[in-house]
Amino acid sequence: MTLRVVVLISGRGSNLGALLSAAAEPDAGFCVLGAIADRPAAGLDLVRERGLRAVLVARSDFVDRHSFEAELGRQTAALAPDLIVLAGFMRVLSTEFVQQHAGRVLNIHPSLLPLYPGLHTHQRVLDAGDAEHGASVHLVTPQLDAGPVLAQVRIAVLNGDTAEDLAARLLPREHQLLVACVKAIAHGWVEVQSGGFRIRRHEHALTTPLRLDASGQLLDAGGQPLAQC
Ligand code: GRF
Repeated sequence: MTLRVVVLISGRGSNLGALLSAAAEPDAGFCVLGAIADRPAAGLDLVRERGLRAVLVARSDFVDRHSFEAELGRQTAALAPDLIVLAGFMRVLSTEFVQQHAGRVLNIHPSLLPLYPGLHTHQRVLDAGDAEHGASVHLVTPQLDAGPVLAQVRIAVLNGDTAEDLAARLLPREHQLLVACVKAIAHGWVEVQSGGFRIRRHEHALTTPLRLDASGQLLDAGGQPLAQC
């Protein structure tokens, strides 16, 4: 069965683009039904040009957060997704929205969570003098960037790096990470449970995030590729 994915965006949508490309591969196991944006995001063109659903639910068209999220929830549910991916979606979703789609919402965040939830992660890594940076894919909960982490990718911070350098070097690795996570769920290698994840071959819930290797494969804490389970 093909996993049905809807992507929520606020901007250029390069992570959405990576999912669209990956979904077109024969072994993807998932399809992107469309994208929903909370503002007139450039990324909506990526789905429009493929004939997929491009939905704008502009926050500015609603008097309050409650009515905005109610419409966002209606539009999302109308596409009947199995999985909702927040990819550069610049809003914290309310408890109601998260509960409506409990266990089915993932987010990609450009830091090694629990380090640096929120904004300006690249600069905060530099300010702290960290030797490593990275990105995380995690389950969305009502708290900002605080849900259980499924997988991470790490990059080295190099001498003289600026926040822009870090962002540019991390982005293609974020794309690989997000695609690998969605594929892992689509193929059933990872199950999303209430409150976390379980690797199919493991008895227990995932306690250490999976790691993306240089070739774009997810490895478990023992270094085993997930795809071989
Ligand atoms: C990515 O860095 C993502 O991690 C962050 O926002 C950025 C979105 O980029 N949450 P794009 O819109 O997918 O190009």
